[in-house]
Amino acid sequence: MTTTTPEIQAYGTVENRPISLDHKVRLTNVTKLNQLLADTMTIRDLYKKHHWQVSGPAFYQLHLLFDKHYGEQVELVDALAERVQTLGGVAIAMAPDVAEATRIARPPRGREDAATQLFRLAQAHEFILGEAREAAETASKNGDDGTNDLLVSSVIRVNEFQAWFINEQSKT
Ligand SMILES: [Fe+2]
Repeated sequence: MTTTTPEIQAYGTVENRPISLDHKVRLTNVTKLNQLLADTMTIRDLYKKHHWQVSGPAFYQLHLLFDKHYGEQVELVDALAERVQTLGGVAIAMAPDVAEATRIARPPRGREDAATQLFRLAQAHEFILGEAREAAETASKNGDDGTNDLLVSSVIRVNEFQAWFINEQSKT
């Protein structure tokens, strides 16, 4: 099924919002939030892939851990997307668009061993933490306290906490 109904707002634009933040500030932060959203959707899906495909002596433990982290990333996805909309932007949403936008390396379709799964997740967390800290600093400097708070209190804290579990689990 296709539709030719015109869009009501183009991706990459921000509508006016009476929240006392300049258009330029909202556009800058929406761009960074959408990048983080695409990368958060990717790590979310990486967790579910690994939840299903994990094998080895730690199967049950990792199967449960990966799904717990998946659930927490689902909540971050919703919070990031709704922050984009709050600022007047358009949240990236569909898998093909996310696949084009994400900067996290694409894993193979097939199964990988648990050590490789953990390594991939650790790398993805580190990448997201770097970009979240950079975006939080920008939001702090341009006066967008709400975005700064979401990034610091939710995105950074959750990713750091999950990275702790992944990194400890990776030790042999
Ligand atoms: Fe499951």
